[in-house]
Amino acid sequence: MSSPLSGKHIVLGITGGIAAYKSALLARLFVKAGAEVQVIMTPSAREFITPLTMSTLTGKPVITEFFTANTGEWHSHVDLGLWADLFVVAPATACTLAKMATGVADNMLVTSYLSTRADVFVAPAMDLDMMAHASTARNLATLRADGVRVIEAAEGELASHLSGKGRMAEPADIVAALEAHIAQAESMSGKHVLITAGPTYERIDPVRFIGNYSSGKMGYALAEAAARRGARVTLVSGPVSCVASHPSVRVVHVESAREMLDAAQAAFTDADVAIMAAAVADYAPATVEDKKVKREHTPEISLTLRANPDIAATLGEARRPGQILVGFALETDNEQANAADKMRRKHLDMIVLNSLRDAGAGFGTDTNKVTVLHADGTTRAYELKSKSEVAEDILNEIEACAH
Ligand code: PMT
Repeated sequence: MSSPLSGKHIVLGITGGIAAYKSALLARLFVKAGAEVQVIMTPSAREFITPLTMSTLTGKPVITEFFTANTGEWHSHVDLGLWADLFVVAPATACTLAKMATGVADNMLVTSYLSTRADVFVAPAMDLDMMAHASTARNLATLRADGVRVIEAAEGELASHLSGKGRMAEPADIVAALEAHIAQAESMSGKHVLITAGPTYERIDPVRFIGNYSSGKMGYALAEAAARRGARVTLVSGPVSCVASHPSVRVVHVESAREMLDAAQAAFTDADVAIMAAAVADYAPATVEDKKVKREHTPEISLTLRANPDIAATLGEARRPGQILVGFALETDNEQANAADKMRRKHLDMIVLNSLRDAGAGFGTDTNKVTVLHADGTTRAYELKSKSEVAEDILNEIEACAH
């Protein structure tokens, strides 16, 4: 059977660590799987393994510098970044991870990383204390939040003769991780996924509104993740500063709950999956002033609020057999019971519970901690992760319930 890597363009970045000797085998496995491999080495990687070894294995000259000194030939980091289907840094030293996390583009590898639109993987390798250091953890968290996938280092004997976590994952395991990723990347192709994100603003007058703290990060992470799996995504977004970058994400910008309902209903007609991640305002002012209310003339005002339509429940009543409808529940107490109750009332297949009692979860953060409840009674609790990783977990749950 042919490998999912067959025909793929892989940029293999090699950095200056002793595990660089394993990169030769990794390149060999990529080539055997039918991939085209372009190696970029950092200057210090050349101290550990020769460019000749890598160019012989891949059939392509290795790139280290921005240009070849004797001929003046320029290597375009932009072209290389765009050529890649997959961008793999193995081994990834603490130094290169830090540069990638902060955008220090002082070599060909990091510059190409910043230019690529490919899915990026790093396989860290370093001594156990460097691996455990707070700054390494911080850089890895930043990279994860940026959508980089980390192929965890293994435990074992290290070059320092100490023993602990820091060994680069074995080349065969790196290949397996990439193959699984490609298989997953096509798992939603042909599907239309509707996602709501962000807050809604309910106008009081031309300058004021009732809103909430939703940043849209969770919904946008879901949209990007579904698009990466091959789905066509309609993202109905309240007012946020997030930007969707994947070309398969169509953003419909709305302001109020009523506008969000209209856009969601229109997209739901041919949607296969709908995920309601928006924090929809439950109430809107019964009347909207057409002129700015002046404090000098109106020392006290009372607002009469009227309940907004429930978008998830409206879609839940209109759903066709086969459509999957997923809600979120943002709770502060009695979490699981409230979430299960919302799932029943809104006719959802699945609800993603996040609690404001958990540090790092909910509004505005780059992380979330969720528990997924299914209509059949199964429940799964996840640890605190970046919103990108949470989005992947949620899509995995959806794909499992679709089968
Ligand atoms: O945007 P971020 O800053 O990244 O924060 C993410 C988040 C906290 C907003 C997100 O993870 C989340 O929990 N979204 C749902 C918030 C919410 O409004 O929960 P709820 O328990 O009030 O609503 C339950 C479900 O009904 C939700 O799917 C909601 O979208 C939907 N709903 C609610 C009210 C309404 N009028 N219409 C709806 O469709």
